[in-house]
Amino acid sequence: MLLYILNKQRHIFFFHDESINCYTKFNFQVWNIKNMSINSVNLTTYSSNDGVKSYINTTLQAPEVSILVKYKNLYFNKKILDIGCGAGRTSFYLQNFTNDYLGVDYSKSMIEFCENNFKNLDFQHYDARDLSGFSDESFDFILFSYNGIDYISHHDRIKAFKEINRVLKKGGSFIFSTHNRNYKDIITKPRLHLSLNPKKLIINILAFLTQYSNHKKNKAEQIYEDEYAIINDSGNNFSLLTYYIDKDKQSRQLSDNNFKLLEMFGMDGKTITENSHDSENAWIYFVAQKV
Ligand SMILES: C[S@@+](CC[C@H](N)C(=O)[O-])C[C@H]1O[C@@H](n2cnc3c(N)ncnc32)[C@H](O)[C@@H]1O
Repeated sequence: MLLYILNKQRHIFFFHDESINCYTKFNFQVWNIKNMSINSVNLTTYSSNDGVKSYINTTLQAPEVSILVKYKNLYFNKKILDIGCGAGRTSFYLQNFTNDYLGVDYSKSMIEFCENNFKNLDFQHYDARDLSGFSDESFDFILFSYNGIDYISHHDRIKAFKEINRVLKKGGSFIFSTHNRNYKDIITKPRLHLSLNPKKLIINILAFLTQYSNHKKNKAEQIYEDEYAIINDSGNNFSLLTYYIDKDKQSRQLSDNNFKLLEMFGMDGKTITENSHDSENAWIYFVAQKV
């Protein structure tokens, strides 16, 4: 009898093991495919001409102004790494505050654009996930502005946090923004905007068709997890897969990766606290320090 029960148990366990194995394998493959597509979808957009053009401007956002004013001692005359420098929006300002500025981006087109437009500054092609060309504790101040960190998978985001922490000097600062999962107006589907002006209506229809076709391709890659979501939102005509997280979970990711959170800033440039109502903020800026 005992032998029969043990045998049965073994059989059940064996069957159970196999199904867990298949399930894990299947999940890993889905995860891997999604991981690859987030990377390739976003890099394609950021490498395109339109992608570069959409970031050519020199306007600072309100939270960036607040941070630059309040935390001048963190970056003035310091060694700065500007990750995801894009078309040089932040380079334009930071060049006035230090002689030791380096802009990096994983899009070669962005780097080429910056090299042609800021001849006196240093730019290099680098991916935040692999900063192995820099030794430990190389920089005083690292910036990853305008949600640049939101265009890689969750797994790679943690990798990037670890790399950023490694190349930052002890006590050095890391400033970045990330899309707010609590934002009340996340646009997740293309909408046709009607107009009585025929010229405007044609432009709106053409934009809608581009957005519709992009969204059709990308929506299957969306991920909704407890910690974060990857959403094909309206950014760059629905051509991006964007990471969203709420401020509490973002704060936890920071402390898990050896950063101390100093302050958070909303879109209006005012500070946000742990208990603030934050649904008006499409993204939130974080000021953190390596511990
Ligand atoms: C939304 S744009 C912002 C550009 C610029 N920082 C600004 O504030 O105008 C995001 C930038 O991050 C870059 N980026 C995204 N993921 C990156 C990564 N893993 N490593 C380096 N750059 C990355 C993109 O190529 C793009 O230039």
